Amino acid sequence: MSGTQTKMRLILAIAFLFGSGVHSADTDCKRDTIVVCYWGTWSVYREDIGHFTTNDIDPSLCTTIVYSFAGLGLNFEITNLDSWTDIDLGGFSNLTSLKEDYPCLKTTLAVGGWNEGSIKYSVMAYTEEGRKTFADSVLKFITYYGFDGIDLDWEYPTTRGGIPEDMQNFASLVETIKQTISPWNLTLTIAVPIDTSLIGSAYDIPSVKDTVDHVHLMTYDYSLPSTALVTGLSAPLSAIKETVSAWLEAGIPPEKLILGIPAYARTYTLVDDDHHDVGDPVTGAAEAGEYTQEAGFLAYYELQQILQDEFQKMTAVQTDDTNYAYGNEEWFTYETETTVRTKTQYALDNGLGGVMLWSIDNDDFQGLYGDKYTLLSTINKVVNENKSRRK
Ligand SMILES: *[C@@H]1O[C@H](CO)[C@@H](O)[C@H](O)[C@H]1NC(C)=O
Ligand SMILES: *[C@@H]1O[C@H](CO)[C@@H](O)[C@H](O)[C@H]1NC(C)=O
Ligand SMILES: *[C@@H]1O[C@H](CO)[C@@H](O)[C@H](O)[C@H]1NC(C)=O
Repeated sequence: MSGTQTKMRLILAIAFLFGSGVHSADTDCKRDTIVVCYWGTWSVYREDIGHFTTNDIDPSLCTTIVYSFAGLGLNFEITNLDSWTDIDLGGFSNLTSLKEDYPCLKTTLAVGGWNEGSIKYSVMAYTEEGRKTFADSVLKFITYYGFDGIDLDWEYPTTRGGIPEDMQNFASLVETIKQTISPWNLTLTIAVPIDTSLIGSAYDIPSVKDTVDHVHLMTYDYSLPSTALVTGLSAPLSAIKETVSAWLEAGIPPEKLILGIPAYARTYTLVDDDHHDVGDPVTGAAEAGEYTQEAGFLAYYELQQILQDEFQKMTAVQTDDTNYAYGNEEWFTYETETTVRTKTQYALDNGLGGVMLWSIDNDDFQGLYGDKYTLLSTINKVVNENKSRRK
């Protein structure tokens, strides 16, 4: 190839890069509404239609994708929980490289989660040295792997082995992480629970509200088959509204609050098929789903399969802007397109920053029973409608 040709190709390549919409360096990435997509990466181990890899992600439906989870190591540093998925299978690099085609996309890494417990985090956050070690490791880790930020999922300060001092230490931890990562414009979000008694006893809102970029409100699991003696709705809007109000009243600015929506059902076994209302007795969790393999839990696509196959035996009821269905001595509490629409609209109407879906691998990501990514695409439809209405 001659020098002129090379130069010509270079110019064309540059023209292409700057000319095409998504590749443009000066693309305005400012979004009115945030759509946070959590990915539970253990879904790579699911079989057949449950198998979920980064190739199944549709980045056009998310403003932020959260890789869940990393954990806390013995030396107070952030660490892999599954280096096979994260590194060997390329989970980290696959995800962060989605930004080559979607430059406005943010990819962040969640640290913590339910299975990590609370006590390790309590011990780490107890000393300034511990907090500093952790924050430094977070900076190194997320920049090394190309993430845009960290999502702190300590579940939860002061509980599950934590101590009262966790509240102050959590606030200091958040502050330290923010100071450490902000020169590089990396983001810090936190995931918080529906238990509003933790406001002011585990979360010192006045000191964290300005530090965090967003607060991911886990507005689901209001009732859980593992602990309940009776059926209960997982995400009733009346309860969600109370939770949102409590966090807002505590001082979280609405635009920083992100409303959680579940892409899964909680499932119970009824004592008796004739008693199938909310609050009726159960023996415990229903059988695990074929692909997700967790008692009391069904991915949205697993639920759709059962509702379709067993439609003659199942009865579905919409109440409190969520759904339940019963039959075969089983009782499911779940979301539909309609209830996801209502919840997303509720978030927008109240000026919240956006919504998050837990988790995209549980949605009907292949479109086996409806639109591809039935629930996530419903969220996007509502967000886009809201946008065009305002124009
Ligand atoms: C990363 O991408 C490769 C190539 O498409 C794929 O084989 C692999 O499963 C992906 N890894 C994960 C964890 O999704
Ligand atoms: C961080 O953001 C500020 C303000 O937008 C910008 O001026 C600065 O260049 C950014 N720094 C980096 C390292 O991206
Ligand atoms: C959505 O639209 C409503 C008006 O219908 C507006 O008040 C609100 O700010 C919008 N929300 C977002 C996040 O765009």
